[in-house]
Amino acid sequence: MSDDRPILFFDSGVGGLSVLAPTAGLLPQAPLVYVADSAGFPYGTRSEAEIAARVPALLGRLAERFDPRLIVIACNTASTIALQHVRAALDVPIVGTVPAIKPAAESSKTRVIGVLGTEATVRQPYVDDLAARFAGDCTVLRHGSAELVEMAEAALAGTAPGPDRLRAVLEGLLDQPGGERIDVIVNACTHFPLIKGDLAGVAPRPIAFVDGGAGIARRVAHLTQGQSWPEKSVAGKAVFTAMDARAESLRPALARYGLVQVVAL
Ligand code: DGL
Repeated sequence: MSDDRPILFFDSGVGGLSVLAPTAGLLPQAPLVYVADSAGFPYGTRSEAEIAARVPALLGRLAERFDPRLIVIACNTASTIALQHVRAALDVPIVGTVPAIKPAAESSKTRVIGVLGTEATVRQPYVDDLAARFAGDCTVLRHGSAELVEMAEAALAGTAPGPDRLRAVLEGLLDQPGGERIDVIVNACTHFPLIKGDLAGVAPRPIAFVDGGAGIARRVAHLTQGQSWPEKSVAGKAVFTAMDARAESLRPALARYGLVQVVAL
């Protein structure tokens, strides 16, 4: 029997596309709905209280509207703050996106890793906990950047990030005491893998950049194993909470991710 219920990806902006892409690669038959909370963007400069109130309420509305089989919170800021609240409020399986500190610690030779996220994410106790559990013998340096989120949004809309601005963001991590020994950086904001090549290109030495996209795709495939899918492939849909000029400018990039319908919530 065919089952048309989509997998719903949620982020403040386009960052979650870095999670949608590997999932779509593993599950090409899955109907996809991508939601950007453009009316609430950016999340990284908001308070914990704002995120904890906004995200579960909005996901509740989205679950009613789209009847997803599974929701991926494709945003580290929303996941590290509101994952538990969302799971408590909704009767839908929820997969979160949290900083990939575990794989970073597994691959670091110098035992110094960097976590590059939003300002909100890098100050979360959730990150302290991941560092203590999975990188106990590493020095974990953190840096939050709202500017890098903006650069990734602009990159998707067609404006390549300037190398000097990228370098300045990386220096926020690498110039911290001990930062000269960082050999792995966790892209702890889903926007950053979208400009991973640009970041690596301005790094002063070879540094590995890791993120959770592929791991989340495997988790989603596991959780939906044995489920039915639509008989014919269904076009992906992008939903914006505010259909503004920025959203309009993203249409070509969204189409490259298979999101050919673009609508306002
Ligand atoms: N993409 C989001 C994250 O993973 C947040 C970007 C923002 O809205 O500040 O944290």
